[in-house]
Amino acid sequence: MVSILSCIVIGLASQQARIARAQDVITSDDYFYGQSPPVYPSPNGTGLGNWADAYIKARNFVSQLTLEEKVNLTGGVSETSTSCSGSIAAIPRLNFPGMCLSDAGNGVRSTDFVSGWPSGLSVGASWNRDLAHARAAGMTSEFRRKGVNIALGPVVGPLGRVAMGGRNWEVGFSNDPYLCGALAYETVVGMQSTGVTASVKHYIANEQETNRNPEASVGAVSSNVDDKTMHELYLWPFQDAILAGAGNIMCSYNRLNNSHGCANSKSLNGILKTELGFQGFVVSDWGAQHAGVATAQAGLDMVMPRGSAFWGNNLTLAVKNGSLSETRVDDMTTRRIIAMWYQFGQDDAFPEPGVGMPSELSSPHEVVIGTNSSYKRVLFDGAVEGHVLLKNKDNALPLKTPRIVSLFGYSAKAPDRYTTDENIGNEALAPEDISIMETKSNIISQYASNGTIISGGGSGANQFPYMSSPFEALSQRAYEDGSFLYWDFHSSNPTVNAQSDACIVDGNVYATEGQDRPGLHDDFTDGLILNVASVCANTIVVFQNAGVRLVDQFIDHPNVTALIFGHVPGQDSGRALISILYGDSNPSGKLPYSVPKNESDYAGLDTPDQPEGIFVKFPQSNFSEGVYIDYRALDAKNITPRYEFGFGLSYTTFSFSDIKTTLSNSSTAAYPTQPIAVGGQKDLWDILATVTATVTNIGEITGAEVAQLYVGIPGGPARQLRGFEKATIQPGASVTVSFSLTRRDLSTWDVVAQKWLLQRGTYEIHVGSSSRNLPLTTTLQL
Ligand SMILES: *[C@@H]1O[C@H](CO)[C@@H](O)[C@H](O)[C@H]1NC(C)=O
Ligand SMILES: *[C@@H]1O[C@H](CO)[C@@H](O)[C@H](O)[C@H]1NC(C)=O
Ligand SMILES: *[C@@H]1O[C@H](CO)[C@@H](O)[C@H](O)[C@H]1NC(C)=O
Ligand SMILES: *[C@@H]1O[C@H](CO)[C@@H](O)[C@H](O)[C@H]1NC(C)=O
Ligand SMILES: *[C@@H]1O[C@H](CO)[C@@H](O)[C@H](O)[C@H]1NC(C)=O
Ligand SMILES: *[C@@H]1O[C@H](CO)[C@@H](O)[C@H](O)[C@H]1NC(C)=O
Ligand SMILES: *[C@@H]1O[C@H](CO)[C@@H](O)[C@H](O)[C@H]1NC(C)=O
Ligand SMILES: *[C@@H]1O[C@H](CO)[C@@H](O)[C@H](O)[C@H]1NC(C)=O
Ligand SMILES: *[C@@H]1O[C@H](CO)[C@@H](O)[C@H](O)[C@H]1NC(C)=O
Ligand SMILES: *[C@@H]1O[C@H](CO)[C@@H](O)[C@H](O)[C@H]1NC(C)=O
Ligand SMILES: *[C@@H]1O[C@H](CO)[C@@H](O)[C@H](O)[C@H]1NC(C)=O
Repeated sequence: MVSILSCIVIGLASQQARIARAQDVITSDDYFYGQSPPVYPSPNGTGLGNWADAYIKARNFVSQLTLEEKVNLTGGVSETSTSCSGSIAAIPRLNFPGMCLSDAGNGVRSTDFVSGWPSGLSVGASWNRDLAHARAAGMTSEFRRKGVNIALGPVVGPLGRVAMGGRNWEVGFSNDPYLCGALAYETVVGMQSTGVTASVKHYIANEQETNRNPEASVGAVSSNVDDKTMHELYLWPFQDAILAGAGNIMCSYNRLNNSHGCANSKSLNGILKTELGFQGFVVSDWGAQHAGVATAQAGLDMVMPRGSAFWGNNLTLAVKNGSLSETRVDDMTTRRIIAMWYQFGQDDAFPEPGVGMPSELSSPHEVVIGTNSSYKRVLFDGAVEGHVLLKNKDNALPLKTPRIVSLFGYSAKAPDRYTTDENIGNEALAPEDISIMETKSNIISQYASNGTIISGGGSGANQFPYMSSPFEALSQRAYEDGSFLYWDFHSSNPTVNAQSDACIVDGNVYATEGQDRPGLHDDFTDGLILNVASVCANTIVVFQNAGVRLVDQFIDHPNVTALIFGHVPGQDSGRALISILYGDSNPSGKLPYSVPKNESDYAGLDTPDQPEGIFVKFPQSNFSEGVYIDYRALDAKNITPRYEFGFGLSYTTFSFSDIKTTLSNSSTAAYPTQPIAVGGQKDLWDILATVTATVTNIGEITGAEVAQLYVGIPGGPARQLRGFEKATIQPGASVTVSFSLTRRDLSTWDVVAQKWLLQRGTYEIHVGSSSRNLPLTTTLQL
């Protein structure tokens, strides 16, 4: 067990696996055969838990279908009248209207009259379960009105193993599995409350964009993950999403132990459909299917975007000639796809698939309004709470009736024209607009130089009705309070009015699907900040950042008085920023990742893994660090970050006191004993202990604090997040926060027993305001 814990991968995968030797020349992926243990046959969905009724209805429905009709339900069709990302054809004789699947996790893509929601990373920075729930419900009500059956989000993979990951913003909420999972749970419940199905993606270990898909001469990257790391890190948030009732899982582009994400019987049949009791269906990422009968047997249920060369008619033939049992096709359709449709009431008064998704947006068409003004507050609060105040020297913020404010940087203004993912980055920009800084290959620039960003790019990018830029919001403020503004959005060394009370420098960090970021800081923006700081004693630095941004080239400059990470706030970006700068809103966001001082502090996990050596045609990504990513790694190596995981300032001050631990009388047997339910063995969710603490607002204004609980599980990382509560507290007042610790929260994955193991021993418990500011400590004896 210990050896599996500390090492990994190829060569250990199974007895049959060959050990890669330096003299080997690997010319085909036969070499890797057997790396992922076979788990067959694909388990039937049985209608566990609250899926029972839907399964009965589905069985009745599918009993009326021919084999060809069933097979048609398993693959998308080319649909030119709508902009749905994928469509399942109607079966008119049974009044089945078909289905629309649409991007993505941050709002409806490719249509009009929908909102630009704060992205997943901003929700992660809010550490606010209620907000995650409200955002999900508001966002998904737009999908419903537009006739979308399945919304292609949330993203909980990538988790964020690689700091430069191109999709870490969409996404993930956080690279901590507990925070990510808790917010994913709320998101799935909120989304599905509207009758739209959540597609939780990308299953699994889809941690880098580099080589995510096979190309002419290079295969898709293989994420080689040991079983313990899989359960304790990458599977954790998927498990929460399934526990929440998610109806759909999207399998990923990457390989897992060298077997494609949509053909891996261990992860699909074994982990997802057996261990986690998943009752919904598995859809392929767009184009992620690379085999026919084999993917059906491995547990794939639906292929997108079209019926593919592998399935369609060939799936029918495979059943007829006996190479695939019809019961597998029945399971795909009856027990999973159609059951999902009934489970969320999509048979009852659901808008016509794709009704609000015209394919020609700029031509005359009937408009379907997706937005609902009762969600304005959620859009704004989401933008505000995703901002994290990281530095505030001598209370530089909030601004106190400044007379002259100067605003610098390319990210302060809106882009020159309506931009979505196609042109926020450099893909559609003229070469002269692009500043490619420190690119490692010919990929995107570090930042979007033509204007602010409210989301990243690719399939998770936002459509939005308007964009509040920092400049417009600040201009409105000047109109209201009679202050005077200067600005320069382009110069790297702007002329600064010496009378300025504050100089705001606004840069950004751009990231997009399909490519990993070329760096974690850029010299152009850092140079601009240093140039302004050399002549302005009150330089306030702001980023709209689709991922972590290193700040050590400028942060110690004595004139840099404040730093804000705005993340990816959606349409109310500027309004939210100005509200914080002027103290109308008190910042309450916390970092959902660590900000190290230097790239080298990542010990290689800053950059994606590249094809190399004998694996040049079959790139390998060995997750040899195990669970030691982000703060778990920095703590283990005793590296002090610039800003630690969980850190974020407020305009008020909080103190922590009175930690108490209560053991509940639930069973403390070593292993859970109850049967598998949706989400895994039922007693994994028994509450074994409750910890309470008092948080007091000792400052002068109302503010919200995120109290965080970390546990030292014997044999594991020094501290792992296992609880958080966000509380709004009046000045002088106290609240009691309470954290419930479940069996899973306190267990480790036992690779031999294939169960969560609750060890006997002493568990360290810490409570405080960040992963390194933990004033309260106690222990728990189990
Ligand atoms: C990944 O693991 C394999 C098998 O142990 C090894 O041959 C290969 O060199 C490793 N790759 C890297 C980049 O460490
Ligand atoms: C991948 O290989 C590792 C190392 O042998 C093993 O622990 C793990 O269970 C495998 N996972 C899958 C999904 O094949
Ligand atoms: C699934 O159910 C069918 C009966 O509908 C049965 O014939 C088949 O063996 C079952 N498959 C598995 C893997 O249990
Ligand atoms: C299956 O789908 C194809 C392509 O959309 C269509 O031409 C065919 O009629 C469908 N078959 C049945 C039996 O509905
Ligand atoms: C089926 O397989 C054949 C040969 O492998 C291929 O040419 C054809 O395009 C496939 N697709 C369908 C939908 O029949
Ligand atoms: C059965 O049909 C499938 C799909 O066309 C094909 O790949 C397979 O080779 C066929 N098997 C036999 C035994 O004919
Ligand atoms: C707008 O959202 C609110 C809150 O969920 C809901 O009560 C109301 O019915 C919605 N309005 C429309 C027109 O859907
Ligand atoms: C970027 O900005 C320049 C100058 O302001 C403008 O000419 C150009 O059209 C813009 N490009 C895009 C894609 O908006
Ligand atoms: C800080 O700003 C002032 C201008 O207000 C300038 O005189 C001074 O040199 C700056 N300090 C540094 C270290 O650049
Ligand atoms: C990290 O260290 C390298 C080498 O000293 C330096 O060039 C780079 O600027 C540092 N990065 C940051 C963010 O300070
Ligand atoms: C203790 O456990 C029993 C049996 O599960 C349950 O009925 C009882 O309510 C529990 N008591 C407390 C104080 O939790």
